[in-house]
Amino acid sequence: MTDIWQPVTLGKATLPNRFVMAPMTRSRAQFDGTPGPLAAEYYAQRASVGLIIAEGTQPSADGQGYLMTPGIYTKEHIEGWKKVTSAVHAKGGHIYIQLMHAGRMSHPDNTPHHRQPVAPSAIAPGTGMFTAKGMQDIPTPRALSIEEIRQTVQDFRHAAKCAIEAGADGVEIHAANAYLIQQFFAPSANTRTDEYGGSIENRARFAIEIATAIAEEIGADRTGIRFAPGTTLWGINEGPDYADLYHYLIEKLNKLNLSYVHIMHQGNEELLAYVRKNWAGTFILNRPGHPREEIGKDVASGLVDMEAYGQLILANPDLLARLKANAPLNQADHATYYGGAEKGYTDYPTLS
Ligand SMILES: Cc1cc2nc3c(=O)[nH]c(=O)nc-3n(C[C@H](O)[C@H](O)[C@H](O)COP(=O)(O)O)c2cc1C
Repeated sequence: MTDIWQPVTLGKATLPNRFVMAPMTRSRAQFDGTPGPLAAEYYAQRASVGLIIAEGTQPSADGQGYLMTPGIYTKEHIEGWKKVTSAVHAKGGHIYIQLMHAGRMSHPDNTPHHRQPVAPSAIAPGTGMFTAKGMQDIPTPRALSIEEIRQTVQDFRHAAKCAIEAGADGVEIHAANAYLIQQFFAPSANTRTDEYGGSIENRARFAIEIATAIAEEIGADRTGIRFAPGTTLWGINEGPDYADLYHYLIEKLNKLNLSYVHIMHQGNEELLAYVRKNWAGTFILNRPGHPREEIGKDVASGLVDMEAYGQLILANPDLLARLKANAPLNQADHATYYGGAEKGYTDYPTLS
């Protein structure tokens, strides 16, 4: 029986255990997208997990959705991320940067160029977003042209290259949670009639092109991808055949030999079993709100290779030490999730 405390190979790296810190936006970057002054300390505090997946990071100005999220496409961003990756490595940790293009989940007030958001089709998500002026409705996006879709694939490629230059161990492609890539998956957000809309093959094309470009640029063994199959967040509806869409993605992506697939579970256990059976590489699972008593069970049962936890690690930088000592856990403070400084970021107490 495999247990979550055992080492695991991921790409070319050997990780000391099978805990993963799930990616979490903290909105504490500088206005130009350079990681904030406390980011290196925040991530280094959590370096005892096998793998840290850093917060959603935009590959371009168009890709930004929320206020003060980091980017990874300029020299300044690279220099800023170098401080983070070297602090994590100094503690023996491993870190991937999550590449997140928000697509229509964006407000012009939050981006450096203040342009209308872009998406597969001109369909608004029907929700609001926090901006410097408070909550505002998200405007209807502009549909990307074919040329712009190709450019966006290149933006992802460039961002992956920048992440490696910044010392990251790899990148995670954010194809989950109702952002740009998942907008392409969902007929509710994608009504295109060209090769990027309609059939499963067409809706999956953008994700596969991005994964192929990044794997070519930095190596498949440093390229992971995250899905949230069947999510209904922010107007996303992938349709009744959504499991077939993911079967197709798994089949195609398998051929690339990516570092891992990461599922943020939405309830479809059958699909998890399908991924286990058909995905040749490393399988990471995040079960939202998973209780402490269940930690390690999915690895032990052989369902997955690694388990990802978000809020438990946000609030407990020394989660592993606490679990080993059977010590109580800190509770996460929701009020300090986004924005601010050290409070709720670098000041969660450790056992010692
Ligand atoms: C503050 C916060 C920010 C998040 N930001 C991201 C993000 O940038 N990218 C992403 O894929 N998921 C994001 N998530 C989702 C988490 O990665 C994770 O899937 C979710 O918190 C459920 O897991 P948990 O119960 O272990 O926290 C975020 C969650 C939280 C609480």
